[in-house]
Amino acid sequence: MTPIRCIGICTGGGDAPGLNAVIRAAVKCAFLKYKWKIIGIPDGFDGLIWPEKSYELTLKHVSGILPRGGTILGTTNRGNPFKHSWVENGKEVIRDISDDVIANARKLGIDGVVSIGGEGSQAIALELFHKGMPIVGVPKTIDNDLSATEVTFGFDTAITTATDAVDKIHTTAESHHRIMVVEVMGRDAGWIALEAGIAGGAHVILIPEIPFTIENVCNFVRERESYGRRFTIVVVAEGVKLPPELKDNRRVGSVGNLIGSAIGAISNKEVRVSVLGHIQRGGTPTPYDRILATRFGVAAVDLIAQGGFGKMVCLHCDRVEAVDIAQAIGRLKMVDQPNACEVWRACRLGWICRLGKNGRQGEEKSRAGKH
Ligand code: F6P
Repeated sequence: MTPIRCIGICTGGGDAPGLNAVIRAAVKCAFLKYKWKIIGIPDGFDGLIWPEKSYELTLKHVSGILPRGGTILGTTNRGNPFKHSWVENGKEVIRDISDDVIANARKLGIDGVVSIGGEGSQAIALELFHKGMPIVGVPKTIDNDLSATEVTFGFDTAITTATDAVDKIHTTAESHHRIMVVEVMGRDAGWIALEAGIAGGAHVILIPEIPFTIENVCNFVRERESYGRRFTIVVVAEGVKLPPELKDNRRVGSVGNLIGSAIGAISNKEVRVSVLGHIQRGGTPTPYDRILATRFGVAAVDLIAQGGFGKMVCLHCDRVEAVDIAQAIGRLKMVDQPNACEVWRACRLGWICRLGKNGRQGEEKSRAGKH
């Protein structure tokens, strides 16, 4: 194995609270434990298209960044060296520039890359690894839907923010006897909606994994009214599958607004909608996320030292381990996968299951293969 003297670090995809904590831990571990040089690669793999933009990361750069959200390295969720797009003679051209990216990493003297990113970034990391780039992965997404790790950092911060919002919505909903719809993130899986909904005491939780109908939601609202509860809080994941009657409107506005208007029309009650959006991705990471991110950063550097290229660090039974990146991608962790979550099993016994089609739990289905 080539002795390691220098590593590169990059962050790709949407940001998540805790990215800076990973960078800080990786820099400290690489410098203090292994005496390596560290190169910061800006804006994901795009930073290797223009290597002159990369710079040496020192302890000074990472001092004080532990509580900071975002990423000091910058990120992009469009950068893919295998499908790099730019405009030539007024036309968009797509090219594979992965050879240049690998050559530029070598020119910078990088012997190993820590790629911090979600499903898409890890898929790119794997392709680069197959072409010879020595690379290890660190999983990241606030959606917590990567199947190879029990938890991703950023999720705890996101559900803390969303729960705080639901708590605040509670008092105003109750005062005005309204239905309040809170739309949270979760493009494919309903983890944020499920956990923030439970933590915030929401009455209805709509997630991509369970089909629902507006009528069932309204029946549930009526049932609450019948025993004197004149307000209802509905938490909805942005990736929820709309019932057929709303599908045509999918492109018009947020799903929260669509669902809110439909509930208002049928229930004849006042409805207000809050779309939390990127607030859930910003701000200071929770202590849990700082600690998990720090553990991942150290583990990724140790993985490079052990020559564990092509692997990604992960959390398994609360221990930091490593899996092949190839096994970590291509299948998302959905709420309804068997044994995915004991919170989910508990919910199926209770009120969530009342909202599926025909008032029963929606059909269980695996989303294996979703990328
Ligand atoms: O995957 C993380 C996530 O925050 C999703 O929940 C959300 O749909 C998406 O990223 C938003 O991405 P963007 O920042 O590009 O709008």
